[in-house]
Amino acid sequence: MRTRADLQRLENWDDRRDLCLVPTMGALHEGHLSLVRRAAEFGPVVVSIFVNPTQFGPGEDFDRYPRTLEADMDLLEPLGVRAVFAPDTAGMYAAADGVSVQPGRRALGLCGGRRPGHFAGVLTVVLKLFGMIRPRTAVFGRKDAQQCLVIEEMVRDLDVPVRLVDAPTLREHDGLALSSRNRYLSPAERERALCLRRALNAARSALETGERSVEVLEDIMALHLGPADVVDYAEVRTVPDLGRLDKVEGRIVLMLAAHVGATRLIDNAVWNVQGARVTEAALLEGSST
Ligand code: PAJ
Repeated sequence: MRTRADLQRLENWDDRRDLCLVPTMGALHEGHLSLVRRAAEFGPVVVSIFVNPTQFGPGEDFDRYPRTLEADMDLLEPLGVRAVFAPDTAGMYAAADGVSVQPGRRALGLCGGRRPGHFAGVLTVVLKLFGMIRPRTAVFGRKDAQQCLVIEEMVRDLDVPVRLVDAPTLREHDGLALSSRNRYLSPAERERALCLRRALNAARSALETGERSVEVLEDIMALHLGPADVVDYAEVRTVPDLGRLDKVEGRIVLMLAAHVGATRLIDNAVWNVQGARVTEAALLEGSST
């Protein structure tokens, strides 16, 4: 489906009210496909593919972002996806200066601080997709943790009638989180990119052996991010509010963003820390690990 008019066809489905949406920017990989498989548990699946210009800042990779619609369709075909919505920019935005969504507190700092306007662009396009497709459920990847939580805040504060589900991060065999941007990495950069995963592993080991100081955990992560060229942040935050804390207790997320060569990579880990117990946790209310 390429246009709003095509979306009329959704109304003919007898299971339309259970529709589950998986929003993407295409260049699909196994991580995206895992969201589609999760989505199929809720109802007929619609995948949207739209490289959203409003969430890219000046100097970011909008122009060179991979656009691989044919290959994406081939990957989705065997998964039984009911429809793919792939509009063009003109079909999506009537005016360049139209109404947009202002993100809430969870967008302060982290990627929200480093990429001004990014989450306003994400929230605006996600709310538009929700309005156009009217899904009952939408599935997002835990890989983009702040995105998940910022969208959850919008849904809560603007009473958007969509149930949100977050799905775990899919990784390469060596632990690198799958990302459409990994294809920018040279073999040597690909090797250095593993430092993000190592930083999370080192912090987890420290947590499991009783370390509870946020400062120490952040230092451990910063140390392991040595091979990266620029570290945007390596922080421990609370879930779901993304607040700061001194001593770890309860649900936390370890948040990383770093540049390797010209490629910006993010990764995170979500943990529930109760006394001496450290267990993996979901980000969103009602999702399972
Ligand atoms: P995109 O980067 O294409 O990601 C689409 C969805 O796939 C997001 O929910 C993201 O968290 C998830 N995803 C990416 N890598 C993953 C991995 N390794 N494992 C599991 N899930 C993964 O995120 C966006 O697009 C856009 O901001 C969008 C929400 C579509 C709005 O434009």
